[in-house]
Amino acid sequence: MKKVTIIGSGNVAQHLLKAILHSSELHLQQILVRKIESVENLIDPTKIIINYGDLLESDLYIIAVSDSAIREVSLNLPFSNRLVAHTSGTMPLDSMSEKNRRAVFYPLQTFSKTKSVDFKKVPLCLEAENLNDLEELKALGSFISNNVNLINSQQRKSLHVAAVFVSNFANHLYTIGEEICKENNISFEILKPLIKETAEKIFYLDPKHAQTGPAIRGDQNTIDAHLNFLKNSEYNKIYKLLTESIQHDR
Ligand SMILES: NC(=O)c1ccc[n+]([C@@H]2O[C@H](COP(=O)([O-])OP(=O)(O)OC[C@H]3O[C@@H](n4cnc5c(N)ncnc54)[C@H](OP(=O)(O)O)[C@@H]3O)[C@@H](O)[C@H]2O)c1
Repeated sequence: MKKVTIIGSGNVAQHLLKAILHSSELHLQQILVRKIESVENLIDPTKIIINYGDLLESDLYIIAVSDSAIREVSLNLPFSNRLVAHTSGTMPLDSMSEKNRRAVFYPLQTFSKTKSVDFKKVPLCLEAENLNDLEELKALGSFISNNVNLINSQQRKSLHVAAVFVSNFANHLYTIGEEICKENNISFEILKPLIKETAEKIFYLDPKHAQTGPAIRGDQNTIDAHLNFLKNSEYNKIYKLLTESIQHDR
């Protein structure tokens, strides 16, 4: 069995931890955290460590910490020439210390601790400094996901931008929709079938052809009525900008 050590205890670290614990091919060697209580209900406490000096040998170390802490954590590792990967969508490979063999293990999904995810379906975007490590990373990744991809730093950067549009921005628009419902005493529940159908439709149609609504129809009367309705200036701006973008794309 291949040994994997996780560093971090946030959203990604906890999902990775569960995926590794479920795998019969990977062995969770240790998890290095700052606060033991953050993972103590998830794993055998003897595997939880808080000191870098207690790190045991592993086939792979996954640094799943905030982007701004990746370099510091990589510098703190008290060994060299081992395979070390971060999980960030934006940070380049060389953001980590060069004393170890650097790699990226980026899971392209939105993770929150409280929502379970089928890790087997999570696209893994992998990158490594040399071919042997890339092969090793592919093998390790395929033990927890059926969707393993080789993606270089430049591609990963662009993928992350695309991901922000389709996930984070879409979710922000849900938040605006929920607020508008609340202000008008309507339950957000009523919009959920629409949200689901909109997301499911792009599995059958490309997004451009799936677009409906006043902007793509060029229905200026409705657009003006909506802009008149939107008293919140931020939301008014967003509505205008998205309408123009849809119409520009027609
Ligand atoms: N969440 C997602 O949907 C997602 C998806 C794909 C990739 N990613 C990437 O995965 C990485 C982790 O994201 P996340 O969402 O799991 O973040 P998170 O939930 O905010 O957790 C951040 C983790 O980093 C630790 N940390 C912060 N500063 C540290 C330091 N100086 N030294 C040691 N540990 C430190 C935190 O420890 P404490 O809890 O002790 O503060 C926490 O365990 C990021 O690179 C992110 O870009 C996230």
